[in-house]
Amino acid sequence: MKFTQYLERVHDENSGLTFRCFSKFYTETGLTSYEELVELIRESADGKSQILDVACGEGFFLAALEKASVPFLAYHGIDISKNEIEEATRNHSKSKAVFTHGNVFALPVGDESFTHVSMHMALMLFEPIERAINEIHRVLKKGGILSFVVGGMDSSNNGYTQLSKIVRSKLPKGRLSTLDGKPQEALSSETDVTRLFDANDWELLSSRTMELLVGNDVDEIFEFYRASYFWEWLGVNELNNIKKHIKWLVSQSKEPNFPLLLCSLKKK
Ligand SMILES: C[S@@+](CC[C@H](N)C(=O)[O-])C[C@H]1O[C@@H](n2cnc3c(N)ncnc32)[C@H](O)[C@@H]1O
Repeated sequence: MKFTQYLERVHDENSGLTFRCFSKFYTETGLTSYEELVELIRESADGKSQILDVACGEGFFLAALEKASVPFLAYHGIDISKNEIEEATRNHSKSKAVFTHGNVFALPVGDESFTHVSMHMALMLFEPIERAINEIHRVLKKGGILSFVVGGMDSSNNGYTQLSKIVRSKLPKGRLSTLDGKPQEALSSETDVTRLFDANDWELLSSRTMELLVGNDVDEIFEFYRASYFWEWLGVNELNNIKKHIKWLVSQSKEPNFPLLLCSLKKK
């Protein structure tokens, strides 16, 4: 649970952090990662559907869904950070969406109450992930759809892998992943999804990899990655070295584009 508390603190102190980073960049199709998720969900939504956005942060995703006229009867966002929830309620006061404080491991909603569950950059954070998946399964109706975006695998060898290796090597030992001493379950490929989602309970509908194109502005790329969890433990020298490395990657046209995995599954 230490990791959950860490995430709660980071988001209480920096609400809107993910939105500020991820709404800046676009994929090859010219959409933000939020919009990619919106388009994926659009296919299965109708005026009777109800969606729960788990770990909704400051609520941008649900607002984007509503703005894009994806027809839902009800929009509900839940997050463990009280400040994120307060900001969501304030920022989207004209939206139909309702935002509630809550934990993915004990969602404060009834069994089978949603036709859709969404998660933008959140599922990979939950530890133990199986418990979170079971809870999502509980709140989805039979035939309901879970759609999510998580970080993917660097398939184009663009510099992202190099950058993450450097960052990881600079972090103090024991500061990686869950903070509970256990490595976090990997969730960045279709193989991981198939391993984590029990085929008796879930049918994989689609999985797609893509990249957020981070451009070639070194400061902007640095700020995007600096907002990652754990960077608060890096010292000034380490941060400077990382910035230099980004500069070098950009000069070699190896921009560290951020890999994404976009998936949808149906509850059997
Ligand atoms: C990377 S942010 C994503 C926020 C939002 N989905 C977005 O993309 O803008 C991860 C979010 O997960 C929330 N979170 C972390 N652990 C959680 C838990 N156990 N239950 C509910 N929310 C959690 C954090 O407070 C944070 O808002």
